[in-house]
Amino acid sequence: MLNIGILGVGELTEKVVLGLRRSGFTGQILLSPRNHERAQTLGNRCACEVMLDNQAVVDGADLLFLGVRPDAVAQLAAQVQLKPRQTLVSLVAGLTLGDLSDHFPSARPVRAMLSYAAQINQSTVVISPGGEPHESVLGALGQLVVLDDEPEFELATVAACMNGWFYFLMHDLQQWFTARGLSEEKAQQLVMGNLQDCLASARHQPDISVKALGEAIATPGTFTRAGLEVLKEQGATQAWAQACDEVLLRLKAR
Ligand SMILES: NC(=O)c1ccc[n+]([C@@H]2O[C@H](COP(=O)([O-])OP(=O)(O)OC[C@H]3O[C@@H](n4cnc5c(N)ncnc54)[C@H](OP(=O)(O)O)[C@@H]3O)[C@@H](O)[C@H]2O)c1
Repeated sequence: MLNIGILGVGELTEKVVLGLRRSGFTGQILLSPRNHERAQTLGNRCACEVMLDNQAVVDGADLLFLGVRPDAVAQLAAQVQLKPRQTLVSLVAGLTLGDLSDHFPSARPVRAMLSYAAQINQSTVVISPGGEPHESVLGALGQLVVLDDEPEFELATVAACMNGWFYFLMHDLQQWFTARGLSEEKAQQLVMGNLQDCLASARHQPDISVKALGEAIATPGTFTRAGLEVLKEQGATQAWAQACDEVLLRLKAR
């Protein structure tokens, strides 16, 4: 059975650990000791071992997750010596495979991107490059998307930001209802329910483009069409594209 090491116990790696255990992963999970109380709480909840230092995590693990913030990578790298070709799955946004090789020369680096839905095994999990054992491990956290090159991975990073934006979109739409007297609960049911309906329909008919599905609803003279025209006039679609451009620009500038 594979052993997994977590370098950097924080918001994201906690979700990874929860998802791994929830998927039935029974191998050892070794945690780095920084923020000891937090690591110990996770350890108690998910049957993980908090190690004495980062090197002990590396030594005991077959596959490592790197979950520190970008500015902490260099310091962490200086504390550890990885095994030859040890798989290092980096969750650090914007850090390229080349950067990872510079910091961890003996590692076999892999980039991964996932959302907090990993804790319920329903995240979109983007990895680059593919291969084992990481595909099997990460595949347990949701829907796996394997990308072959880094430019594609950068684009997928924009998709991960969309994940965050969708929450704010839902919030804005829910607020429109609550401002008109609907309860939070009902507003949530209406917004999330209709979003869920779109996803279900689109997934049920994968051969039909989402644009065609929308056009079949927003036919001329309908209320849907009237609202859609306002959204376009107000530049809503452009604003989304501009937000994506901004993220991509920042990623490329790193
Ligand atoms: N790929 C994705 O899908 C995705 C999504 C969201 C976030 N991210 C990335 O995930 C990473 C973590 O984000 P987060 O929100 O989970 O951060 P976080 O909650 O701050 O967790 C990072 C943890 O690493 C610890 N740490 C720092 N230096 C360390 C070291 N030398 N050894 C061991 N642990 C160390 C931090 O301790 P201190 O608090 O003491 O510094 C903290 O507990 C970031 O790089 C972010 O870019 C990726």
